Amino acid sequence: ANQLKGRDFLDLGDYSSEELDYLIDLAIDLKSKQKAGVPHALLQGKSLGMIFEKSSTRTRVSFEVGMYQLGGQALFLSKNDIQLGRGETVWDTAQTMSRYLDGIMIRTFEHSKVINLARGSTVPVINGLTDLSHPCQALADYQTILEKKGKLKGLKIAYIGDGNNMTHSLMMGACKFGMEFATASPEGYAPDPDMIQMSQEIADQTGGKLLVCTDPREAVENADIIYTDVWASMGFEAEQKEREVAFKNFQVNEALVKYAKKDYLFMHCLPAHRGEEVSEGVIDGDHSIIFDQAENRLHAQKAVMAAIM
Ligand code: CP
Ligand code: NVA
Repeated sequence: ANQLKGRDFLDLGDYSSEELDYLIDLAIDLKSKQKAGVPHALLQGKSLGMIFEKSSTRTRVSFEVGMYQLGGQALFLSKNDIQLGRGETVWDTAQTMSRYLDGIMIRTFEHSKVINLARGSTVPVINGLTDLSHPCQALADYQTILEKKGKLKGLKIAYIGDGNNMTHSLMMGACKFGMEFATASPEGYAPDPDMIQMSQEIADQTGGKLLVCTDPREAVENADIIYTDVWASMGFEAEQKEREVAFKNFQVNEALVKYAKKDYLFMHCLPAHRGEEVSEGVIDGDHSIIFDQAENRLHAQKAVMAAIM
């Protein structure tokens, strides 16, 4: 635990498989303590600053409530309210905030901004989503899968749709845990080549398996988990119409899930667009665990904060 103190949480790739296992175990432990009403004020008197340059429901609420449950406090700092939005540099923001806070969470567009914030900060920085990755969601998702299936290694995850931030973090996580990860996206919407290469290198070490293709059926074949996300992420709203055309055959629906295992689970990071990337029947059906995922954002992030702050 102590060796994670002071670390940033920017991407799952920065953490070893053992460290990720540790964080998930801690998340499960903190979850049971919270449910049993056992106090766990591990961050008493500490403060987390939360910079938001994009909208959020889950991330904001779970970090804020999580800090409170750990005995600390969280500050919601929207880009409209802090000087960063008026052109104060990332460096000066990082240096200044480090004098007050014990940790900083940031949700923004360019991944490089998070890297730069972490460089300029003397306190740990947490990536609360960038255009490139969403490690907090992926960590919570692997906690959820472990709770539901009792293991990670040996399971197959199929990700259908846009090769986006969610895909990248899930892909990297699956490879870290030695799982099989298959993703299907339309031509032109594949995951980032560097992320694929990094994930493949991890998979080579852990015994994980990676498939990047354009055929949803091939990806879903025999899958334990089917995961999808919106076709137009935050920042890509202007492409909504053209994306609806490109992704037309990539909906997760009753016809597609037939190719998965009978006891497959459906996952989505939310927010969702019912009738677009997923049919109502699937997302609201018996196999869907979307709100367990959402809940685990709270527990997984409490583990991250308790470990690094
Ligand atoms: N899944 C997720 O990060 O949700 P929010 O955008 O509501 O934070
Ligand atoms: N890919 C989505 C995830 C939202 C939690 C987005 O970036 O908008």
